[in-house]
Amino acid sequence: MSTPTQLRWGILGTGMIAKKFANELPSSESGVLHATGSRSLASATNFAETFGGRAIAGYDALLADPEIDAVYLSLPNGLHHDWSIKAMRAGKHVLCEKPMAANATEAESMFKVSRETGKVLIEAFMYRAHPLIQRLLRLVHSGGIGELKLMRSNFTFSRAASPDDARYHPEQAGGSLMDVGCYCVNLARALARAEPIAVHATAHKHPLGVDDYAAGTLTFPNGFLVTFTCGMSVATDPGTFIAGTEGQIAIDAFWFATDGFALKRTDGTIEKYENSTQQPVYAMEADAFAQVVRGESKAWITQEDTLGNLKVLDALRESAGIPIPGR
Ligand SMILES: NC(=O)c1ccc[n+]([C@@H]2O[C@H](COP(=O)([O-])OP(=O)(O)OC[C@H]3O[C@@H](n4cnc5c(N)ncnc54)[C@H](OP(=O)(O)O)[C@@H]3O)[C@@H](O)[C@H]2O)c1
Repeated sequence: MSTPTQLRWGILGTGMIAKKFANELPSSESGVLHATGSRSLASATNFAETFGGRAIAGYDALLADPEIDAVYLSLPNGLHHDWSIKAMRAGKHVLCEKPMAANATEAESMFKVSRETGKVLIEAFMYRAHPLIQRLLRLVHSGGIGELKLMRSNFTFSRAASPDDARYHPEQAGGSLMDVGCYCVNLARALARAEPIAVHATAHKHPLGVDDYAAGTLTFPNGFLVTFTCGMSVATDPGTFIAGTEGQIAIDAFWFATDGFALKRTDGTIEKYENSTQQPVYAMEADAFAQVVRGESKAWITQEDTLGNLKVLDALRESAGIPIPGR
């Protein structure tokens, strides 16, 4: 049962991240799962039995439910554009999984519909909603490591390649740069508070047609240099190292931000930053989204941020010779 102040969520899709979001939503202060829509009624029913809410066959039918305030869009990347637009036109706010679209042009048209309909549309970079990551950004921006110089950032994981996984579908904007490289790019741009002036990527092409692993560089105008690696078929490494003239920060499991971090200064001192919240990150994200819907705060990922990220991902794919779907 929802209370009048709660945001009633509808989830599109019953995959891996939809399950995580639904599992953590009860830990939010603002959200309740109202319904989940799937291409298959059996899958929606299984989902509803586990996580609650109604089971709905078909995405259009979910969008037709007048009791849903916001949609969590957890479909493959190539479907984000069309279903976000349909959801906003149906009167729903949209929290759309990353990367927000198959390319930057698609994202521009999605934000145009957001402005036309007055519906909130935010890219679900959950890690940026976490207070520890926000603390880290403030620390670096306030000169905590001196002048920002270098970052090495990684996001790799190892899972068997499968034609059933949309990450391995070129037409769904799959591939490692889009799936996890997008985080490294997002963090680099957030630290730099600028767009890169040069980008380069090299990628390994899997027989299914996408980059299953890749490496890239980003050059920022203020002398900040970034190398990153990303991969879907490579031993897990979610570590990031950030260095400036007066200190460095190394985090082994960056993207989930639960372990805290230490700032090591060049003078030998160490300052520790602990994770002070027990709330799971997707619940935090749901609350952050609700605050934006209620007009209480600004989006933690702005339109400019999303567009900037996708422009860099477009340029990286061009550099690596990876076709960009939808263009
Ligand atoms: N923020 C994060 O931490 C995070 C983590 C992982 C993934 N993601 C993002 O979330 C999105 C989904 O990722 P996922 O790992 O949850 O994927 P997934 O497990 O493959 O789930 C995707 C779901 O989309 C639906 N779907 C509709 N058309 C499809 C098609 N042609 N092929 C495959 N599935 C289709 C399916 O649900 P039905 O069959 O029920 O319709 C499927 O279960 C991606 O954009 C990904 O980048 C974000």
